[in-house]
Amino acid sequence: MRIILLGLPGAGKGTQAKILAEELNIPHISTGDILRQASEDRTPLGLKAKEYMDKGHLVPDDLIIDLIKERIKREDCKKGFLFDGFPRTIPQAEALEKISNIDKVINLKVEDEVAIERLSGRRTCKGCGALYHIIYLPPKRERICDRCGGELIIREDDKKEAILKRLEVYREETQPLIKYYRKKGLLIIIDGGRSKEEVTKNLLGSVR
Ligand code: AP5
Repeated sequence: MRIILLGLPGAGKGTQAKILAEELNIPHISTGDILRQASEDRTPLGLKAKEYMDKGHLVPDDLIIDLIKERIKREDCKKGFLFDGFPRTIPQAEALEKISNIDKVINLKVEDEVAIERLSGRRTCKGCGALYHIIYLPPKRERICDRCGGELIIREDDKKEAILKRLEVYREETQPLIKYYRKKGLLIIIDGGRSKEEVTKNLLGSVR
């Protein structure tokens, strides 16, 4: 199964993609996670991407397309994959079409206010990438990951100004993908505003 998960920043893509990928036994490919790791490792791609990411801008299409082309060549993608945060622009979707078929595109729909509230309270584990929210999904111990004991941090682009920029960029660059995939008959819409468990149940129901 080859799946694309679309949705506003903060819609819950990362949270749900981790669960869905495990349930379906396919790799979870998050371009955001790959770029953050590259930035942490201070690779040339990571250093270039960081300048865009911290301000809430998109990383240029050519860099992302090369990254995805390499990633889906790997053995683990033979059985399918779950894209989280890719494609994000029409040129990215067109490039993807040339290298792979897609079975389902799921739009995790939330209102702007929900996205802003979720991003403002998000905490991310520096060690294993687990996601928390100070109100909705709090860790057992403050600033410490339940799973690996790692430090919980606030992402650079989860500051107010960058959040608002990301929402604006989403409207301009990513939202047109909804129409694009609807026309192709691939689009499924899931209400992302419900509880984490309800969203998981509905997502699994839509792909099984
Ligand atoms: P990326 O990492 O992809 O970020 P994003 O799309 O902005 O999405 P987020 O990770 O912020 O949110 P999410 O939907 O995954 O929500 P989450 O599950 O964490 O991209 C970051 C940057 O990288 C981009 O801005 C860009 O610069 C660059 N980039 C990446 N891909 C690119 C591409 N293809 N092209 C160009 N540039 C690219 O949940 C959010 C919070 O809500 C968490 O605290 C979570 O615990 C909580 N939560 C989740 N679900 C629920 C629920 N149901 N109820 C209550 N709380 C919930």
